Amino acid sequence: MSNLLSAQGPRIVAIANQKGGVGKTTTAINLGAALVEQGCRVLLIDFDPQGNASTGLGIEPEDRQNTTYELMLDDAPLNEIIMRSQIENLDVVPATVDLSSADIELISNEKRSFLLHDALRQPAMEQYEYDFVLIDCPPSLNLLTVNAMVAAHSVLVPLQSEFFALEGLSQLMLTIREVRQSANPDLRIEGIVLTMYDSRNNLSQQVEEDARDNLGDLVFRTIIPRNVRVSEAPSFSMPVLEFDSNSKGAAAYRDLAREILTKYEAVAA
Ligand SMILES: Nc1ncnc2c1ncn2[C@@H]1O[C@H](COP(=O)(O)OP(=O)(O)OP(=O)(O)O)[C@@H](O)[C@H]1O
Ligand SMILES: [Mg+2]
Repeated sequence: MSNLLSAQGPRIVAIANQKGGVGKTTTAINLGAALVEQGCRVLLIDFDPQGNASTGLGIEPEDRQNTTYELMLDDAPLNEIIMRSQIENLDVVPATVDLSSADIELISNEKRSFLLHDALRQPAMEQYEYDFVLIDCPPSLNLLTVNAMVAAHSVLVPLQSEFFALEGLSQLMLTIREVRQSANPDLRIEGIVLTMYDSRNNLSQQVEEDARDNLGDLVFRTIIPRNVRVSEAPSFSMPVLEFDSNSKGAAAYRDLAREILTKYEAVAA
């Protein structure tokens, strides 16, 4: 599988939803770990000044010398920017709060929307042979998220299974459409994944029904359940797949990785 994908360069996936706390970072970390279990090489780009993805993978703030900011703006060699996590084949470009001023600092930079796109396509990237680059976006439709969408092949949208979940989705879709028109015509929607699903709760079922009715095949079959082990894992600096491999949360992220990979196998066959 690994070679099959990397022959065309990595699949770049922006994990985005401007709504806060819907499971973007959790999905970036655990989908990343699940893809690695399936034999992929994965780079996780922390694109949120909160730095939660970096923290969740055990990269301490004092060890974040080079960050996504340097990846976009500096000529620093990639081996000084890309960090290894404790999981083999899961690498990270960390983020710090410095990233929060990018919007303002880059305002007069004509290429400001293409910085991540260009950084990920530099020839030195090829040696890493990544199958996937996952970008953990901030809860906003700002310049960072636009950079991620310009750089990406697709957008994966975590949707929290609660009231108002679908609200705001049209704004996100509008931004995707604008990025298609202005910079990245081939940008696709990788899929919408329901997160924090509680099967005992009618509301979760209602959100699922609404999402499937309105968005059809864009919604992944796989649903991520609300599972306390998922929320505990980051404080142990581990993906839930490692923290509690037998948990429902770990199983769900494995299913999501398989669902995504199966799609590519079908296309390649
Ligand atoms: N499946 C789940 N079961 C239980 N808790 C979860 C699950 N997914 C995420 N959480 C918890 O919900 C909270 C928000 O998740 P997360 O940080 O992944 O969202 P986010 O969209 O990245 O947030 P932000 O918009 O602030 O970046 C976290 O405390 C996380 O541990
Ligand atoms: Mg986050």
